[in-house]
Amino acid sequence: MSNLKRHYETPAGVVKALDGIDFEIHEGERVILLGPSGSGKTTLLNCLSALDSPTDGSYFFQGEEVPRNHSEKMTSFRRENIGYVFQFFNLLQDLTVMENILLIQELAGKKDSARAEQLLELVGLESEKGRFPGEISGGQQQRVAIARSIAKRPTLLLGDELTGNLDTETSQKVMEVLVDACSKENITAVFVTHDESLVQYATRVIRIDSGRIVSDENTGISAILEEE
Ligand SMILES: Nc1ncnc2c1ncn2[C@@H]1O[C@H](COP(=O)(O)OP(=O)(O)O)[C@@H](O)[C@H]1O
Ligand SMILES: [Mg+2]
Repeated sequence: MSNLKRHYETPAGVVKALDGIDFEIHEGERVILLGPSGSGKTTLLNCLSALDSPTDGSYFFQGEEVPRNHSEKMTSFRRENIGYVFQFFNLLQDLTVMENILLIQELAGKKDSARAEQLLELVGLESEKGRFPGEISGGQQQRVAIARSIAKRPTLLLGDELTGNLDTETSQKVMEVLVDACSKENITAVFVTHDESLVQYATRVIRIDSGRIVSDENTGISAILEEE
């Protein structure tokens, strides 16, 4: 991203949600994006995933300009490249754990039930694959959401406050599963949070405030992996 801006015209004036964002993310990096409420984190993630179009600046993904202001092209870009873990899991309640994962693969044209099984094993939920989301705990649902988010082998995995409604212990477990999955599968990730304690899971920490990057640091190998 280079000098990327997302301004909103409102009756009260222009809101500069993103006001000149510059960075390059490399394959295999695990970025934690930190910033106070209202600093532009969600807006940045929405631009990264082509859910939203910037109002100015450039954004290239693997050498190609990311589509903007064109919903069909943006949707195909997302389906091909982006995995997403949501704060509220967003599992489909009428589908089993396994079916939730298969559906995402199908949408990306990459159905692979062996991989779906493997991922459920990776997040420790093999035995729950036939259950419905309403029949398992919040922490388990979030682990299903993680398996689902990487089921199509996204190039870039994004998460917005993904541990935001989990208790500390569960959120640590969820992050460990996620980091483990990302490093085993060499998935590049950007996780947005206002929770400083998640920094230990990152290889790089970017802080934003008022729509601008205020610091950008490599932390090297994350603390979690160093322990192993
Ligand atoms: N649709 C919108 N219209 C006007 N202002 C918006 C809109 N979406 C976000 N904003 C503003 O942009 C700024 C950044 O919002 P956001 O990216 O949601 O911050 P964060 O995720 O860091 O809490 C905030 O000031 C917010 O009020
Ligand atoms: Mg937000």
